[in-house]
Formats: sequence, structure tokens, C-alpha cells
Amino acid sequence: MYRIAVFLILSVVFLLKKRSDYERKQLKTEYYRFFSEKLSTPRRLVFLSDLHEAEFGEGNRQLMERLRELRPELILIGGDFIVSRKYRGEGRDCTDQVERTAALLRELRQEYPVIYALGNHESRMLGKAGCGEQGLFCRMPESLRQRAQKAAARWNDALSGIELLDRRSICMAEMPELRISGLTLPLSYYGKLFFRKKKPLSDAEYAEYSGGTTGKIAEKERFQIVLLHSPLYHKEAIRNGADLVLSGHFHGGTVRLPYLGGLMSPQFQLFRKECAGVFPYRNGRMLVNRGMGTHSVNVRLNDLPEISVIDLLPPERKA
Ligand SMILES: [Fe+2]
Repeated sequence: MYRIAVFLILSVVFLLKKRSDYERKQLKTEYYRFFSEKLSTPRRLVFLSDLHEAEFGEGNRQLMERLRELRPELILIGGDFIVSRKYRGEGRDCTDQVERTAALLRELRQEYPVIYALGNHESRMLGKAGCGEQGLFCRMPESLRQRAQKAAARWNDALSGIELLDRRSICMAEMPELRISGLTLPLSYYGKLFFRKKKPLSDAEYAEYSGGTTGKIAEKERFQIVLLHSPLYHKEAIRNGADLVLSGHFHGGTVRLPYLGGLMSPQFQLFRKECAGVFPYRNGRMLVNRGMGTHSVNVRLNDLPEISVIDLLPPERKA
């Protein structure tokens, strides 16, 4: 009896692993439509997040082909395209992986305008390299700092021609009805939240981390998109003038269960409803992308990697 039970458990684990490996290589296109009186021209954007150095076909050929089929006017990146491991002390691996991301960025920028906002992994790499938040990494050995600096330099080279929104906003001449902001949270907002509440984000902190995208400054005429890696702070963003918040970070919850949704976020929250999909709040909405890659917990079940197609439409097209 005991042997049969062990055999059955191992068989189920084996099959789930096979399924997860299969899902991690798929790309699912999800379509979203948002209407606003602030929009006068239909726009098609693609939103990508949490690649974490994943590759879909050699050199991400499948991803590029899918994008060509979708014909977006603009690509928005919500952060965590790279993998940056935490520094846990001397002798522990904290290598940063940026090569596949850098290659993909070079391809993307040749074909599309691209806007990139930072996730916690980019912030960590920059902190380790000594050009971002440094408090957490001040005891890191010089040899590791130099490795992080090399990775950051390779990533930064690939950003040439890409609009990096690190606590700032832009209005593009080609899309004058849009204002796009990149809000970079400090790493202290990404701590483990197992039976703990999230760190509060005041209006003053929101203004600082978004480079001034507050309710007072947000333009009433323009449709305000805020790239905000963590979905936990979308209500703060909408209260401060965001029409559409674009988030990722939760990887869809890793395992998506019927009726219950995503099992676990990277911050160890269980069954958070904001793991994937659209969440309305007051006059705004948040779209949470399931991400494309994984790191540390390399599992995806009922949770296919996502390309988000965003069609922005004026209200008269709603019917
Ligand atoms: Fe993240």
C-alpha cells in the first residue's frame, strides 16, 4: 500500500512537472480594450512584463513573430525582464542574467518604439552595481560589485534608443493624447508578505517615486498610463490620477486554480486576487500581466506566459 501511494505521488509530480515545462514555453496573447473620452484615436499597444530571461524560440524568434502579427504602435515593458539574484552573503551566488533580455531589446528597438519601466530585479541589479539603491548592498565584496556593474552595463547598452521611465513621465509627439509614467518603488516595497501587511505608500512617496505624477500634476486632458511593477499599489496610483495602471510581478500566481485564482505571489502572499486580469477602481483600471518567465520557483500551471494587447479606444467605438 505504502509503495503504491509513493508511486502515485511521484507519478502526479512527474506529470505536473511535464505540464509546467510545456506551459513555460507557450505564449498566450490576451486582448484588452479600454475606452476613454480622453482618447480620440484608436491605439494598439503591447504590454510585456517579467520576461526573467526566458526565451521563446531561438533568440526569442517566436515572440518577435507574434509581435509582428499583432502590429502594435508601441511596446511597453513593465519590468523584471532580467534576473538579479539577492546578495545573501559571501560565497553565495548572486549572479545577474541579462544576455537574452539585452538581445531581445536590441531586436525590439529596431522595429518599435519601446518604453521600459523598472521592476524589482532591475532595481536590485542597479543597487548591487552601485548606481541605484545601495543601502542593502554596502557590505557586498568588490568582486561581486564589479560583476553586477558588467551586467548593468550590458543591459544599459541594449537600452540605447529605448525610453527608460525611471521615476519620470513622457508625452510622445506621435501619441499626444497619452501620458506615460514609470513608477519605481524602492526595494523595501518588495519584502515577503506572508501574514504581513504591505508597506504603506503615501501620496508624498507616490509623487517622489513616480517623478511627480500626482493628482495635482496628472493631466486631465491626457490619458494617463502608469507602469507600476507591483499590483499592490494600483489604488494609490488611480487616486493620484492614473487612468490605466499596468502591472506584472505576480507571475499570474504561479499555479492558477479554478475559482481561487493565483496560488502564490513572489512576495509569498496566498490567493491574492490581483494575480492576473483587469481590476477596476474608481475611475481607473489596473491590468495585471501574468508575465512571460519565471525565476527561483520555475513553475507555471494553468498559467501560460502572457502577451497583453491593449486597444485604447474612444467611447463612440464601444458599440
Ligand atoms: Fe517582480
